[in-house]
Amino acid sequence: MTARFITIEGGEGVGKSTNIQFITARLNKAGIDYVLTREPGGTPLAEKVRDLLLNEHEEAVAEMTELLLIFAARAQHLKQVIEPALKAGKWVICDRFTDATYAYQGGGRGLSKSAIAELETLVQGSLRPDLTYLLDLAPDIGLARASKRAALDRFELEKIEFFERVRASYLERAAQEPERCVVIDAAAELTQVQAAILAHLETLL
Ligand code: TMP
Repeated sequence: MTARFITIEGGEGVGKSTNIQFITARLNKAGIDYVLTREPGGTPLAEKVRDLLLNEHEEAVAEMTELLLIFAARAQHLKQVIEPALKAGKWVICDRFTDATYAYQGGGRGLSKSAIAELETLVQGSLRPDLTYLLDLAPDIGLARASKRAALDRFELEKIEFFERVRASYLERAAQEPERCVVIDAAAELTQVQAAILAHLETLL
């Protein structure tokens, strides 16, 4: 079986962690060798950049600084973790990747999608995920869930309009790349969400 690069995307509180556990349990059962990782982060250095991105600072974080930090972390993550794993024939399951940059920095912050595309090519070359599960949920429901579980990070403190733009950008990308992106209705009961993921995942196994 060829190595696959699978990403899981969605706004805040859509249930990524629970559903990633569900996906990896199925991969374990199938005996697939995979690496589970996340962005921003995935290496010690990239996790430090994650802390910079998620924590609040005394000064405002410029949008371009945020974008470049995300791609700096991504460059490190690709070199240290993702590329070696794929080269070794392992699958890579990644909690967020560059679709999040289009959604949050492009849609949310309003940065130009062509600037993001240029950085994407510079940092990733031709590497793109093979498959993306987009967990789609109305932001008011997602944020209510997210605020119950922990203190809010720098992104979660954004207004609902920001997350409406994030959601719209995700859906727009999924519509542009329907062969790669599987949109899952995350407002459904968990058993239904997982049945939808499983129905698709089984086609790969
Ligand atoms: P997480 O808490 O879901 O792991 O994600 C951390 C935050 O980082 C989340 O609010 C989305 C944000 N983010 C971006 O803004 N751009 C990106 O490219 C990535 C990967 C995450």
